[in-house]
Amino acid sequence: MPINHRIVLDNRPQGEATVNNFKMVELPLPELQDGQVLVCHHYLSLDPYMRGRMNESKSYAQPQPLGEVMIGGTVGEVVDSRHPKFKAGDQVVGMGGWQEYSVVDANVVGALRKVDTTHVPLSHYLGAVGMPGVTAWYGLVKIIAPKAGETVTVSAASGAVGSAYGALAKARGCRVVGIAGGKDKCDYVVKELGFDACIDYKEHKDYLSLSKALRDACPNGIDGHFENVGGMVLDAVMLRTNAFARIAVCGMIAGYDGAPLPMANPALILVNRMKIEGFIVSEHMEVWPEALQELGTLVGTGKLRPRESVAQGLAAAPEAFLGLLKGKNFGKQLVKLI
Ligand SMILES: NC(=O)c1ccc[n+]([C@@H]2O[C@H](COP(=O)([O-])OP(=O)(O)OC[C@H]3O[C@@H](n4cnc5c(N)ncnc54)[C@H](OP(=O)(O)O)[C@@H]3O)[C@@H](O)[C@H]2O)c1
Repeated sequence: MPINHRIVLDNRPQGEATVNNFKMVELPLPELQDGQVLVCHHYLSLDPYMRGRMNESKSYAQPQPLGEVMIGGTVGEVVDSRHPKFKAGDQVVGMGGWQEYSVVDANVVGALRKVDTTHVPLSHYLGAVGMPGVTAWYGLVKIIAPKAGETVTVSAASGAVGSAYGALAKARGCRVVGIAGGKDKCDYVVKELGFDACIDYKEHKDYLSLSKALRDACPNGIDGHFENVGGMVLDAVMLRTNAFARIAVCGMIAGYDGAPLPMANPALILVNRMKIEGFIVSEHMEVWPEALQELGTLVGTGKLRPRESVAQGLAAAPEAFLGLLKGKNFGKQLVKLI
């Protein structure tokens, strides 16, 4: 059996996470038991939620245990199987973690899913046609529920979730305005992803200035907003909301290192009779088939062309993950493992 390299959480961050929180270890792979499948991972997904799992504090999910392989979504190929529904060569998506191979108990419902790469490249099952895409779908369709002609906004617009959100909102006839860090990302959001406008928040020193730019980009105000960042971005958006605006709170990445993210004008929730709703996509598995169907069609027909940042080799994962938390990624952050 081959040797499996894996990255474990060695110790918990104090404030900002560092590469020293992780450790590479190697283990021989065990013999397969009945019902198990051996998967060789082609890509590992790096996602902001992993930062929360590195802490011990109370959250919606259990902390990542120390000394165990880091949690993470993976796509790859079955190399050996003792389960009747899987055979060598099948392409699969699962939660294999930060390692080169995983041994999966395929009797566990949802542990491993076969995917079709005829029209959708394998890596996109970790991004637009995977968890981040479904996240965008849920927040837009189930919380914001926009009508055609409404204006909707999203922060971290060039990223895995934001890019899918743009395509889904355009398909519903909305005016879509993104907020992203830097000119290159904003150009991509408008020219490649087809948003109506994108604002570079790094050009604005405070939320009042950012809010003026939003007023110009959203002349009819904001009816729905999808929040990925928090802090100044959310404050700026709230000033431009219309009556009965809906805000889907998906992420607060600006605060993932533990800094508080105060809200400048909470009275606007009342004044504008806003709905603000947080959600966790894994708690809404009932929508995944419908969402994945729409996302797969958008990618397969070229209406959504997601961009990827690909780090090479497992050893590059910690650095790439820390970069994701600072906006160094451009699109879905992946690690190529073979
Ligand atoms: N609720 C759920 O179930 C769920 C599921 C998936 C993802 N999420 C959340 O969705 C958000 C987007 O995830 P993603 O996978 O699509 O990531 P992503 O957008 O591909 O990458 C993260 C982006 O966040 C921005 N960012 C990072 N640090 C920031 C900071 N301190 N201040 C402002 N912006 C910062 C950067 O974009 P810029 O360069 O443009 O600033 C960075 O590229 C995250 O908050 C994540 O936690 C939630």
